[in-house]
Amino acid sequence: MEKLLDKLNRHDTNLLKDKDGDIHPIKPSKRATWGPMPHLLDGGRPIRIGLIGCGEIAQVAHIPTLTFLSEKFTITYLCDINADALAFCASRCSSSPPPKTTQNAEELCRSEDVDAVFICSSDASHITHGVAALVAGKHVFIEKPLALCQADIRTLKSLEKDINKGRVFVGYMRRYASAFSDALKAVGRVDEIRYVKVRDIICPNSIFVNQSGTFPKKFGIPEEYLKELTENEEGIIKSALVDDMGLAVTPKRKAMLRLLGGLGSHDLSAMRELLGMPRGVLGARLDPQMWTVLFDYPNFAVTYESGFNNIPLFDASIEIFTDNKVVTIKYDTPYVKGLPTTIVIREKVGDGTGYQERVLRSSYEDPYTKQMKEWWECMVNGKEIKTTIEDAALELDLFKMILRAAD
Ligand SMILES: NC(=O)c1ccc[n+]([C@@H]2O[C@H](COP(=O)([O-])OP(=O)(O)OC[C@H]3O[C@@H](n4cnc5c(N)ncnc54)[C@H](O)[C@@H]3O)[C@@H](O)[C@H]2O)c1
Repeated sequence: MEKLLDKLNRHDTNLLKDKDGDIHPIKPSKRATWGPMPHLLDGGRPIRIGLIGCGEIAQVAHIPTLTFLSEKFTITYLCDINADALAFCASRCSSSPPPKTTQNAEELCRSEDVDAVFICSSDASHITHGVAALVAGKHVFIEKPLALCQADIRTLKSLEKDINKGRVFVGYMRRYASAFSDALKAVGRVDEIRYVKVRDIICPNSIFVNQSGTFPKKFGIPEEYLKELTENEEGIIKSALVDDMGLAVTPKRKAMLRLLGGLGSHDLSAMRELLGMPRGVLGARLDPQMWTVLFDYPNFAVTYESGFNNIPLFDASIEIFTDNKVVTIKYDTPYVKGLPTTIVIREKVGDGTGYQERVLRSSYEDPYTKQMKEWWECMVNGKEIKTTIEDAALELDLFKMILRAAD
């Protein structure tokens, strides 16, 4: 245990301390297993989920999705620092018996009633909660952004390796949409790409959330936690900007880092999977309302344009140009279940003088459902995880390229 603690950085040691500041060990749960869980197959029980963070995305997407997938998952434990959020979310779960509730994430992670931990707490708590889950020997799903600084990535990576029981699955749901896999096939070879445009310009989420039919409630952070959580977030941002990027902390850089970790990580992680990592950034104009980045790839450039306006539209797409076709992945807001993700293929046909446009929607299943089924496959059948810690670490390299280029 001491060896593990040596590897934890400032954020994580806080988790392992009691109120008096004494460090106490978290014992791996006896039932926790690493590797496939074959006992859950063939009529076995669903995976018992402990969910941390009963906020908007839990209410709008994750609790409903886990509940619909009741043959694969059952929610047995909920955690939030806000007691009202906990009670509200418990009332939304149809698990039988009803989920236990706690304001202490470690208690949930250690519980014998939890096989796997689902983390959708605020960004700055992801690593603390991920550490608690891994130390308890559990598989863990962590919403994007996994982390904002390399020190936190290193902590989680070494715990995953050393404990060697649970595995981390990062929640980049757009990369599990069927249209995304279809686009990968439709594009063919990366060396045929001439230009790519990544766009994500959206209105305030509340416009979609209020029409999602899920009727979530906001409860806020209780006063007594505000100081600690703010200090933790400030520490992470300083570590990212100063230690990783060699940049001074400014309000604009802080805002941009949060935005890149929030909205940006959806687009940038999809871009990475489709195209690999860029060589660098040729230019960037960063304004927290609208930002534009020009990425340099060996054979082409990528413009990434993103931001917010007040038009009730989710204008998110990845458009890939080759000599003979243009493939566009079109995402709609994930907050309204069932809106399609499609690919549109525009191409020449016949002798090259004809043109056709095709719309492909190979599945009506939403990306959150696809993602959850994939996580289940990884846990139960040992399928390889694609959105790993190592994968998420590359995101931070992109953030660094972008922020430094705008300097
Ligand atoms: N994949 C996606 O499509 C998607 C969409 C939205 C949000 N997210 C991610 O999900 C996470 C949550 O987002 P949200 O919009 O639901 O935020 P939110 O603020 O509505 O909810 C966060 C919840 O976590 C709780 N919380 C915070 N710190 C905690 C702690 N230390 N212990 C226990 N509970 C704690 C808060 O009380 C709150 O209820 C964020 O990391 C966000 O980036 C992902």
